[in-house]
Amino acid sequence: MHTAIIGAQWGDEGKGKIVDMLAAEHDVVVRYNGGPNAGHTIVVGDKEIILHQVPSGAPQGKLCVIGNGCVVNPDRLDEELKQLSDNGTPANLQISERAHVITPYDLLLDVGLEIYKGRQGKRVGTTFQGIGPAYMLKAARTGLTFGELLETDNLAGRVQELHEFTKAVLSALGVSGEDVYSAMNKDDSAVRMSRGLRAYFEKEMEFRKVLDSLQGHREMLSPMVSDISVLLSEVDDNGLSILFEGAQGTLLDVDHGTYPYCTASNATVGGVFAGTGFGGRVDRRIGVLKAYTTRVGEGAFPTELKDETGAHIQKKGGEFGATTGRPRRVGWLDLVIGEYAARVNGLTELALTKLDVLDDLDEIAVCTRYSIDGKPVRRFPASPRLLSRAEPFYQVFGGWKADTTKAKSYADLPPNAQEYISFIEQVLRLPVKYVSNGPKRDQVIVR
Ligand code: IMP
Repeated sequence: MHTAIIGAQWGDEGKGKIVDMLAAEHDVVVRYNGGPNAGHTIVVGDKEIILHQVPSGAPQGKLCVIGNGCVVNPDRLDEELKQLSDNGTPANLQISERAHVITPYDLLLDVGLEIYKGRQGKRVGTTFQGIGPAYMLKAARTGLTFGELLETDNLAGRVQELHEFTKAVLSALGVSGEDVYSAMNKDDSAVRMSRGLRAYFEKEMEFRKVLDSLQGHREMLSPMVSDISVLLSEVDDNGLSILFEGAQGTLLDVDHGTYPYCTASNATVGGVFAGTGFGGRVDRRIGVLKAYTTRVGEGAFPTELKDETGAHIQKKGGEFGATTGRPRRVGWLDLVIGEYAARVNGLTELALTKLDVLDDLDEIAVCTRYSIDGKPVRRFPASPRLLSRAEPFYQVFGGWKADTTKAKSYADLPPNAQEYISFIEQVLRLPVKYVSNGPKRDQVIVR
């Protein structure tokens, strides 16, 4: 049986750990969306491995696949593969020939677009990994696929086109090279986030450096690039099982998320099919739901906590981006979002993560509906205007005020924690199959 693991909120739900656990029961692990904007943290023994592009099944030696729905930065892929080899777990990786390459031009455009949007007070707060531009070029039928990177005998010509395209876009936006450099120099976090971009700059983007770098990756990539749709259908025919690893979350999906404050790919279940070319059945669809909510970047967040409780959860939960180091905004669990994720993805079960982060709280609130302009609203609104006016209605629970990190079974959890979990199950009409109660591999209760 094949399984999809999908973020039920705004990403950062702790999917990496659940994928790592379930990878043991599957033969192949597949990423179907996003790119190095993701950061999946896996704790192996005392070591922490953060994977951005390679599927989280790699440390276990599983066959890992990056689907066509992904955009991949080869510079960073090289680093990740080295990290895995140094860890003694070299990756067994295949990349779709239809996946798009993130080039340094996409990094440049990501910074440029955020400068442009910032002038209108509309910054998205991207991870500066070139994600939006890589998908933008894909939709504009201008992007570079991995198949083309390996096959074309005119790579210089294609890179030249990307160079000209980027220059034209930046010029139309009124963003100069100087604007980009000074943004990078002024803002430390932007420099960190657009890591990699500097290697291609002196005064302006150096075409030769970009070309040399892409050419230099051909040898590394050539044994890895193939037709993933064929591979996955053979895996299926042979009775092997596939784990589809979602990146980001339902509310960051470009179609179903909080547009325009979202990413550029399909994080929801539709992305599994469009982003891999796999046409079989995916019977288990596990929604990963954090016991509270976080969000990185801009956009409405009805249950956001801007008080001491929020600061406590942020600190205790280590809510700082795995990719960018940015502090994540924190709020109470929102079951209007939970219902939406269950519906859009056809979820069959839930994995509840980071329950232990709530251990010290006196009271814990869960949002069950909104009030918008004085009217009760139970369904997540598509309109960002409505969402920004949503006031949460809370059900308040007594905290359990006990250490849950050592619980090995559901029965070991304090009664108030069990009550909290049952409430989620009742409202969403889904079983909470896994409860994660600490960062370590063995801190998961399976029911
Ligand atoms: P982009 O994906 O870099 O274009 O960023 C668009 C939005 O999605 C920003 O608000 C990011 O903070 C957010 N985002 C992208 N990837 C992740 C993720 O893996 N976790 C959480 N937020 C993300």
